[in-house]
Amino acid sequence: MAFPDTFLDELAARTDIVELISRYVTLKRRGGSMIGLCPFHSEKTPSFTVSPDKQAFHCFGCGEGGYAVQFAQKIENLDYVDAVRFLAERAGMRLPEYSDDPAERRLRERLYLLHTEAARFYHGNLMSGENPYALEYLTRRGVAARTIRVFGLGVCAPGVDSLVRAMTALGFTKEELIAGNLAVAGGRGDIVDRFKNRLMFPIISVQKKVIAFGGRLTGDGQPKYLNSSDTPIFAKGRQLFALNLAKSSKQKGLLLAEGYMDVIALHQAGFDNAVASLGTALTDKQAELIRKYSGGEVTITYDSDAAGRAASERAAALLNKADVKVSVLSLDGAKDPDDFLQLYGAAALRLRLEERESHMSHKLAQLAAEVDIQSDDGRVEFLKKAAAVLAGVNNEVEREIYTARAAAIADVTKEAVALEVGRLNAGTRRKAQFREQRDSARIGGRESKAMRAETEFIRLAIDDPELARTVAAELRPVDFETGFLGEAWARILSGTQSNLSMSQFFTEEQTRYMSKALVRPKSPEQIEKALGDCLDTIIQESAIRASDSPEITRAMLGAKKKKRYGEKE
Ligand code: UTP
Ligand code: MN
Repeated sequence: MAFPDTFLDELAARTDIVELISRYVTLKRRGGSMIGLCPFHSEKTPSFTVSPDKQAFHCFGCGEGGYAVQFAQKIENLDYVDAVRFLAERAGMRLPEYSDDPAERRLRERLYLLHTEAARFYHGNLMSGENPYALEYLTRRGVAARTIRVFGLGVCAPGVDSLVRAMTALGFTKEELIAGNLAVAGGRGDIVDRFKNRLMFPIISVQKKVIAFGGRLTGDGQPKYLNSSDTPIFAKGRQLFALNLAKSSKQKGLLLAEGYMDVIALHQAGFDNAVASLGTALTDKQAELIRKYSGGEVTITYDSDAAGRAASERAAALLNKADVKVSVLSLDGAKDPDDFLQLYGAAALRLRLEERESHMSHKLAQLAAEVDIQSDDGRVEFLKKAAAVLAGVNNEVEREIYTARAAAIADVTKEAVALEVGRLNAGTRRKAQFREQRDSARIGGRESKAMRAETEFIRLAIDDPELARTVAAELRPVDFETGFLGEAWARILSGTQSNLSMSQFFTEEQTRYMSKALVRPKSPEQIEKALGDCLDTIIQESAIRASDSPEITRAMLGAKKKKRYGEKE
């Protein structure tokens, strides 16, 4: 069975591998790691290594390794599911299918209530006029009084514990405030507000319950937005901001934006079908949610900068896979939808919306423009690329329509294109099998340059997924030479938070390989630069593999790199 990522992430957060292993093995600290005698083979000098940072173990003697789940499996002789159950019990968690525990249900009910009260409190703070700067800020950004009410916007005061005090007075406990991620431990055993001095955006579920908050600084500072972490009532990868409103919109489909303020501006301008993902790249769960509430049609209106365009491509692919018809709205001349509305107004946006292009036809036109479509070579080139794009479309009707379109552009029969698409789909399956075998051979053999960089990249990405997603926004899972490391990246992109959820679908061999890399001592200080270096190598190696003459490409890339670092040629 597959466990929800959020469950495994929670389990990972509540399990300490050092504490777990210490019950079976005497561990001593050495540098950043813990070492001991391996419980899985007999040895006199310790080669069994545990990394507290990475929550992984590896024995350099017998090669056994993995995470908390794998350790429990081996030491208690359990299968995967039972090992998860074993750890969950230790952590005081119920397996998802049984989580109807009355105590947990009660906590959830309390947290719903707490969030409702907190939203009321923040909103009251905004309207009371005690914090005039917040209201002024919203007015300056053109947010109307009615919009403030509809979205229940609020403000938290600059003090350290204004919410804690107000909620405590209403009978909520410390534990509840912490479980809801509205407070964090302060000094001397007391607790303080997590959100301070921020404009507050309540996140409301389709059941119309306040389940989380986003908070924006009204001045400079970092982070610009602070969001609730996942709690028993909130999983950010499974929610969309303003879906509670958009789901009853009379307009066709949904508009998908990047930011809270974009959605708010869009609603105010009459586009009440706008939603946003919550501070991360779109996840497959959110894509499913969109399919469910959009009637199968979505228009992406992300920021118009390079990062926004890359994110939009990725979201489009994910939505296509979820069988949602995707269009992309051009915001040329503005930064984001909010900015567009300020500059040009609602009527202009309405016009752009009418002229919007489906993602597919846009993509096909783009591919055609890249070649000389009059020449035979150009048409072959176009068809190859078009077929690859079409093979990624899950909806048959849509695939059929655009197969015909591609055929028309290249002036060949529809059947010829369809044949190529079908061949690619079969090829993809065969390739997946082939890749798994090849990965397995690689794990045993000598690591290529690409695989080394990919492994290091994933290792760093696990340390700081947010940073990795930012640094490597353009990196696609298919750029990886090693299939399962590419999959790991895909899972990190879609919001996976812990090594347990990341490795859920890995083979044993793959898990062992990864945990071995993780227990290697020490991450570099400059994680951002290290990520960037790995990224460069991965992209370069991928270009070399894709090129017709790898040696020449390698030589050219080598030359370029030297120049960049100012070395002699
Ligand atoms: P943007 O930086 O594009 O901000 O982030 P914005 O929505 O245009 O906000 P304004 O106009 O400056 O007020 C887009 C979204 O990314 C998430 C938030 O959900 C934000 O709305 N984000 C951004 C964060 O979660 N944290 C941050 O520090 C920044
Ligand atoms: Mn903005």
